[in-house]
Amino acid sequence: MSDRDPDAPLTEEDLYEVANLPKVELHLHHEGAAPPQFIRGLAREKNVDISKVFRKDGSYDFQGFLHFLSVYEAATSVLKTPDDYACLTTAILEESAKNGVVYTESFISPDFCGGGDVEAWRDYLHAIREAADAAERDMGITLRGVVTCVRHFGPEQAKASALCAAETAGDWIVGFGMGGDENKGKQSDFAYSYDMAREAGLKLTTHAGEWRGPSEVREAVEALGVIRIGHGVRAIEDPALCEMLAERDVVLEVCPGSNVVLGVYKSLRDHPIAKLKDRGVKVTVSTDDPPFFHTTMRDEYVNLAKTLNWDASVFRDLNQTALDAAFCDGATRDAVAKRLEIS
Ligand code: ADE
Ligand code: ZN
Repeated sequence: MSDRDPDAPLTEEDLYEVANLPKVELHLHHEGAAPPQFIRGLAREKNVDISKVFRKDGSYDFQGFLHFLSVYEAATSVLKTPDDYACLTTAILEESAKNGVVYTESFISPDFCGGGDVEAWRDYLHAIREAADAAERDMGITLRGVVTCVRHFGPEQAKASALCAAETAGDWIVGFGMGGDENKGKQSDFAYSYDMAREAGLKLTTHAGEWRGPSEVREAVEALGVIRIGHGVRAIEDPALCEMLAERDVVLEVCPGSNVVLGVYKSLRDHPIAKLKDRGVKVTVSTDDPPFFHTTMRDEYVNLAKTLNWDASVFRDLNQTALDAAFCDGATRDAVAKRLEIS
């Protein structure tokens, strides 16, 4: 326990401590974590022209959420083989490990890995796991997968993803989720897929309350039975919903930098993460799609520390919340807990 006065401004040493904490990340999109230079290299190798997705300085070029989704999908179009995903996995985990992440769950979509075909998906998954195992050995970072359907591809296509998830559920594929355009359809349209994933023993999350308001978050909990919510930040607009989330121990995968870059909130000062926490809602911190949003886990921590005057003890608690809410098995959780204790 720290005995510093929580109202005293953070010192350089405090910020250094925050920046260098070991970190647990629960909300990271596999393709969204692809460094732009990696995607540009693959495009060149495969002779695919996706030059319009890059700015002159080499970063991803988009304005607003829907444009972000289309640039994301264009960038993803050059990832064509299991080996591409293996190389991508290594690149992602190198970057995460550099930023102190010791455990991460990433969203992986069968739509992009074999088009929803179970046998093709198995090949992609095998390649991803081999790369993840090597990264665990070499860099001390553990990855687990959350199979993710894409909301704007519709409920029928989601069933193919859910089948891939159910067929490969186990100690590595540990969850099922949904990303994509929250303004398309309803959470409950995907209940069949979520039921299939639940019956296969997978833990459940979905993006909700990023673009739509509190009713979307309520529907996610009630119609899909999720125990975590991707973003969920607009729950702050409904105190009764906050109470319900707190009572049911639903954990929010909050991605502050993403919310600011995509325009959900004007600045980190306007972001509700502290208010949600004050209301007793369990919050965690993640990056979402780090190179798209020019962020890293280290940056997220330091920016929150500076804006909210949160010291290392606050981030240690957030990490513990994240580890408790991780979808992995107990043995993995215990091993990661040891890595957090070392700090
Ligand atoms: N896919 C990748 N990033 C996303 C986000 N922030 N919201 C919804 N779907 C996504
Ligand atoms: Zn996301």
